[in-house]
Amino acid sequence: SKSEEAKSEVSKDASKLIVVGYAQVGAESDWRTANTESFKSTFVPENGYELIFNDAQQKQENQIKAIRDFIQQEVDYIVLAPVVETGWDTVLQEAKDAGIPVILSDRMIKTSDDSLYTALVCGDFIKEGETAGHWLEDYLKSKNVAADEKINIVTLQGTIGASAQVGRTDGFANILGQNANWNMLAKQTGEFTQSKGQEVMESFLKQFDDIDVVVAENDNMAFGAIDAIKAAGKTCGPKGDITVISFDAVKAAFDAMIAGDLNASIECSPLHGPRVAEIIQKLEKGETVDKIQYVDESYFDTSMDLEKIKAGRAY
Ligand code: AHR
Repeated sequence: SKSEEAKSEVSKDASKLIVVGYAQVGAESDWRTANTESFKSTFVPENGYELIFNDAQQKQENQIKAIRDFIQQEVDYIVLAPVVETGWDTVLQEAKDAGIPVILSDRMIKTSDDSLYTALVCGDFIKEGETAGHWLEDYLKSKNVAADEKINIVTLQGTIGASAQVGRTDGFANILGQNANWNMLAKQTGEFTQSKGQEVMESFLKQFDDIDVVVAENDNMAFGAIDAIKAAGKTCGPKGDITVISFDAVKAAFDAMIAGDLNASIECSPLHGPRVAEIIQKLEKGETVDKIQYVDESYFDTSMDLEKIKAGRAY
């Protein structure tokens, strides 16, 4: 009968998977791998989703192409982890014209039209940079470093123009501005990768023989920096010549702190899969969602029971 036909249409609809296209940055770091895993394990058919995953190899042009492909495939939602902040308006307008909601995950964009995205869930990168600065203030105090003793700092920056880079650089600079004895010797990008971090640190060590502190804008660049420091015959960590601070707090960072090579890592959560799924579920029900959602984050250092904390962590 007609009504039975209608009923079976409804049940077919109810069993229809929600198709999500994820334009991922790349696979440049442990954090990124954990983030990809978080999406791949959340957006599965058992949870009602089909995931179309694209790895852009850290290139914006690849992400733009992926978004255009998602639009062509008429996905239900587009999730974008934007490699850099600028240059999204045209392609996001295309998604909007196609009626596909865009959820920004992990990093933000600069746009004059906020209607181009539905929601944003990410870490507060400026706050992370400030946390790193405050950590250094406290650490130097605990070491009884005189307020007029010069502290020479170098920074390994993330991908230039990525909100994770911009926020961490600016946040740390805010605290540096309050400490007249802190001296930023140099800042250079290590592209958020271990190999580039190592390469840049090698060149810093050749240029400057008096580095006191390295700020690495992610853990993997810190691991590269630690290798470079050791290869140059210097030591690092709480008992070494050079203090190393990084961001992310992935498992390997806990190992580096336990080994005494890394002083502190400022937390950045990669587990955005379930957070984005929650946003999509609300949108499916016609509920409103908070436009900007910052994840609560902390920091870890060698004064803590790191073995115990590490054991309880998923990434
Ligand atoms: O946007 C988050 C940053 O991107 C993480 O700190 C870094 O590891 C990743 O590549």
